[in-house]
Amino acid sequence: MKFLITAGPTREPIDPVRYIGNRSSGKMGYATADAAIKAGHEVILVSGPVCLKPPRGVALVKINTADEMYEAVHQHLDGIDIAVMCAAVADFKPAHYSAQKIKKNGGLENISLVPTRDILASLSKIKKKFCIVGFAAETDFLHENALKKLREKKCDLIIGNDASRMDTGMESDDNALTLFYKSGKIKSISREKKTVLAKKLVKIFEKLQEKS
Ligand code: CTP
Repeated sequence: MKFLITAGPTREPIDPVRYIGNRSSGKMGYATADAAIKAGHEVILVSGPVCLKPPRGVALVKINTADEMYEAVHQHLDGIDIAVMCAAVADFKPAHYSAQKIKKNGGLENISLVPTRDILASLSKIKKKFCIVGFAAETDFLHENALKKLREKKCDLIIGNDASRMDTGMESDDNALTLFYKSGKIKSISREKKTVLAKKLVKIFEKLQEKS
């Protein structure tokens, strides 16, 4: 199978030295890419800035901003069987980029933000046929919010996790997942190392693609 995986955060620049970012480490996406390669698949990994070594054998596409990730994903859809959108894409970016460093003496009342494009939601509009997998990191109402994302972003599968816990999820080596399928099936996977979860997910993705 050919995988397209996104991972890590995006950075939305304010001026040459500042950006809006998030805590995503990229661990889940990189572990999934590694597990897919080890299971004999082909992987394109579109990654935001992270401190991880790319798994040997992946085709790595490095990006910084949500716009760059959108373009990179759309340029690499040819022949893929599955898109796995692990990245924590910024939902908003500064409306204006200041080419000069903003000086504190001038004061700064606020930064105007505009929404970024939703990469995951854009995939269902593509004519080519491939499985679409999204993630949902939620602090509240995981089931309701994940099911809403499954429906609205027209995914085959949404993988939810509880983002309010400090011992799992963002930055942690561990995660606990709940899988919400388009068919209505819901499956929980209890807390494990992300590397172990990634191997399970790759098997799940293989079955998902077989059935589609
Ligand atoms: N996503 C994306 N493009 C964006 C925002 C999110 O592709 N601009 C993808 C993420 O990679 C993830 C899924 O959408 O697979 C859900 O992301 P999440 O941050 O949980 O939800 P949002 O859609 O951003 O909504 P909210 O922040 O309101 O929960």
